[in-house]
Amino acid sequence: MARSRSASLLGAAMWLLGGCDSGPSAPKEQATWEVIQTNILSANCTSCHTAGTSFARQSGLVLTEDVAYSQLVNAAPRNPAALTDGLMRVSDKKLASLDQSYLWQKINAQDHESLDHDHAAYGEQMPMGGPSLTTGELEFIRQWILAGAPRKGVVADPALLADTRRPEAEPFSAPAPPANGRQLHLGPFAVSANFEREVFYYQPLNNDADLYVNRFEVAMQPGSHHFLAYIFPGYTPAHIIPQPEVLRDLRDQNNSYVDENGNDLFDWRVMQYHQPIAISQLRRLDYQFPPGVAQRLPAGTGIDLNAHYANYTGQEIQAEAYFNLHLIEPSQVQHEVEVFALSNFDIDLPPGQVTTLEKEFRFKEKRHILQLVSHAHDRMVEFRAAVLGGPRDGELIYTSYDWEHAPLIDLSPPLVLEEGQGLKITATYDNQTDRRLFFGFTRKDEMMILYGYSY
Ligand code: HEC
Repeated sequence: MARSRSASLLGAAMWLLGGCDSGPSAPKEQATWEVIQTNILSANCTSCHTAGTSFARQSGLVLTEDVAYSQLVNAAPRNPAALTDGLMRVSDKKLASLDQSYLWQKINAQDHESLDHDHAAYGEQMPMGGPSLTTGELEFIRQWILAGAPRKGVVADPALLADTRRPEAEPFSAPAPPANGRQLHLGPFAVSANFEREVFYYQPLNNDADLYVNRFEVAMQPGSHHFLAYIFPGYTPAHIIPQPEVLRDLRDQNNSYVDENGNDLFDWRVMQYHQPIAISQLRRLDYQFPPGVAQRLPAGTGIDLNAHYANYTGQEIQAEAYFNLHLIEPSQVQHEVEVFALSNFDIDLPPGQVTTLEKEFRFKEKRHILQLVSHAHDRMVEFRAAVLGGPRDGELIYTSYDWEHAPLIDLSPPLVLEEGQGLKITATYDNQTDRRLFFGFTRKDEMMILYGYSY
């Protein structure tokens, strides 16, 4: 079941990278928007969202066929908190659009906790009072939004709708350990009432030989915000490698990153060497590299596991995460995945100002880019990456608005960059402190890195 999600995530990324406004046209097929209208909105929403009802007056939203498209796409929300946050009901800005679409926040039962707690002012999950939309319906709408919410054209596979499970009804269960691989376990650890706990945990693999990972699986308890797994490259100084099997907290109970003497609780220098190998912002992730492509974990590798949990209940909860590494035999490996870090060290941010920095990177040889994720600190407000050179010159392929939880973007099929082509990264920082900020490994200063996987 998680496999189908991974396949559809990749599918979504394909549309993202297609670079066309409405996806390939398939005249005989019903437009994705029409399927959404008929099969989802008219079936689940118009009982309330019909002109003249008190629900329509309260929400300012009518979802009947005549007006639903214009009521949603590029329309400002009625909800004051969503309006203040700058959301649209549905944004057609493609890559950035999920985060900026209030409709998505209202229906995404995958991240139910977010609506209940982070964004309590965003109102109820929709359909109000009913069971959530199905996993298939949500994925179908998600792909439509990511494709720029076109009125015409097919941008999501109707076969997705066959998945009629409902996300919130899915109980937590540990995934089976891989037939050929390793299962790592973070926790269980307590998250006290009304507290967000983010921990790191370094787990040596004690592997004598190199391991080749072709697939990752993540499963987390409810309440999770994100999970990441990092490795440390060979040049990492020994004193940076964390102590094994100890929980390291990012913040204390008062949500402070520093202790009473002003010292960081967490050793932020570790982040300089972190190379992400898996990121999940969903409770379940199943990511597979293309056949014959694998991430090599050299003998003696350890993995720094990182989980962020939010507990908004009045009672302590137990949090835990599982991380499965599925291996292939060395003889099956055709391409080794390499982690690259495109880093701008030239950072100088005047106090009290918003500054945008950009830097171009060109590859010396042909590369297939598989995934991208950015890294910066608190003052980063926007991070973007665009293709440099070649037929897709200027195409935006990555955005993040969240320094702590940068999204990981899967590129499938891989983005192929010929020799001399590359990526341009642009980051905007809002330096509200009273001092100039420079490049630095702690949160006192800033960073600007785009990590990627390529072969
Ligand atoms: C039982 C009635 C009911 C049903 C069914 C229902 N809604 Fe709503 N909806 C409301 C009410 C009431 C509000 C305003 C309060 C709120 O936002 O929580 C609202 C608000 C919204 C908003 C926010 C509008 C704005 O601009 O503030 C969206 C988006 C929305 N609904 C989408 C949907 C979708 C999509 C469905 C079907 C999947 C749906 N609703 C089903 C009653 C309903």
